[in-house]
Amino acid sequence: MKQSKHSISRRDFLHSTATLAAAAGFAGAFARSAAAEPARHHGQSSVFGQSFSPMEKVRVGIIGVGGRGSSLVHTLLDIEKVEIKALCDIVPERVKRSQQVVTRKGQPEPVGYSKGETDFENLCRRDDLDIVYIDTPWEWHVPMAVCAMKNGRHAAIEVPAATTIDECWELVNTAEKTRRHCIMLENCCYGETEMLFLNMVRLGLLGELTHAEAGYLHDLRAVLYDQTSEGNWRRRYHARLDGNLYPTHGLGPVAQYLGINGGDKFDHLVSLSSLEHSLSKQRDALPNNDPRRMEKFVCGDMNTTLIKTALGRSIKVQHSVTSPRPYSRINLISGTGGILCDYPPRVFLDGQQPEEWDNNIQKYHEKYGHPLWKKVRELAVKSGGHGGMDFVLNWRLTQCLLEGQALDMTVYDAAAWSSVFPLSVASVAKGSAPVQCPDFTRGEWKRQPPLGIV
Ligand SMILES: NC(=O)c1ccc[n+]([C@@H]2O[C@H](COP(=O)([O-])OP(=O)(O)OC[C@H]3O[C@@H](n4cnc5c(N)ncnc54)[C@H](O)[C@@H]3O)[C@@H](O)[C@H]2O)c1
Repeated sequence: MKQSKHSISRRDFLHSTATLAAAAGFAGAFARSAAAEPARHHGQSSVFGQSFSPMEKVRVGIIGVGGRGSSLVHTLLDIEKVEIKALCDIVPERVKRSQQVVTRKGQPEPVGYSKGETDFENLCRRDDLDIVYIDTPWEWHVPMAVCAMKNGRHAAIEVPAATTIDECWELVNTAEKTRRHCIMLENCCYGETEMLFLNMVRLGLLGELTHAEAGYLHDLRAVLYDQTSEGNWRRRYHARLDGNLYPTHGLGPVAQYLGINGGDKFDHLVSLSSLEHSLSKQRDALPNNDPRRMEKFVCGDMNTTLIKTALGRSIKVQHSVTSPRPYSRINLISGTGGILCDYPPRVFLDGQQPEEWDNNIQKYHEKYGHPLWKKVRELAVKSGGHGGMDFVLNWRLTQCLLEGQALDMTVYDAAAWSSVFPLSVASVAKGSAPVQCPDFTRGEWKRQPPLGIV
């Protein structure tokens, strides 16, 4: 698929800034910005609990209708009172394809924007949008979200929301200045098993929580070399950065169990990567004349990051997207009353069973299944999208907007969960040295309740 020359120029720019940053001591730059929590500007204040007037429908604009964005078009069309009003992609055929999906569902044709890499600004300027979805390569997430918020729209960003600490702060500061929602679309927080675990944790079945484990362990070798989708841009990150490049799918749900930004916070982390082998092996299997044979990779096949929280809990987060292996997000939460773990989902509750896992997860779904999943299960399963979690996330998000309620996930969550990407890179670059995690809430985490039962 053809890419605009502008898109390449921005990538090249990012590439050269990354090289400069590396030359200047990447790790130092990351660690410095992590330690310093910038003061709020005049007129800027916390957006915890931010609510709005109820609305009759949710009018959506979407930037990026490649693999993820086009799938979300289908999900959003399955939700009542959602209208897709505008679509943007630098590839015009993709805009057309999604326009047709919308009209086939009986909605008017959304206005299309495909005149180059900055045409998204025109979409953001429309006054008939409530929220702008951002489903583009990672380097575009923050400029697009900031543009949406500065134009008065809420921003919903794909994962990870940001890839540097400065970008994380930019999201937080812009949301606080513009008073807009800025949510990261962490769909895994709405998986049926994750919501079951959240419910069991909140019901106190695990007692005092002490430790969690999370990961994104997904063999993406084929995707990383697919030139029609993420392979166009995502492989480049493996050539530039060594760390956890995709932390939030596993980390988001366990951060919610632990009440990160709501009673606890990430304090510091250390990160260690294995050597790199698998992507190079894939590269070496390409034909001799393929220009991609020149690429060199630095991201270790397995990255393991350990986070210590302010309350003293520990979290292990892993990243492996190039090794042959079955899929897992690990999804483990442990406390004084027992332990829950996924892949496959299993339970151990102290004093209630012999000392072995109970794999009969259905029993727990029936007893402790999350009320939100129970409410929308039929629609979620029918809609599909990662086992229904895409529907539940988007249903819940649009429901909160319709009712004017605060959202489940805040800009502080988007920043904290995404920050593990650059912080792990900084720690690896410093020989696994400890790196301080910024407090994006500027102390508010102490006063906030953990996410409750919705
Ligand atoms: N939550 C999930 O389960 C999930 C799954 C897949 C991908 N993602 C995330 O979704 C995002 C997109 O991934 P993808 O797989 O769809 O990638 P993709 O390459 O298939 O799609 C990205 C689209 O963005 C377009 N684009 C690039 N620059 C643009 C610009 N300046 N203006 C407008 N459009 C532009 C591209 O043409 C492409 O169509 C990434 O952040 C990825 O991490 C999330």
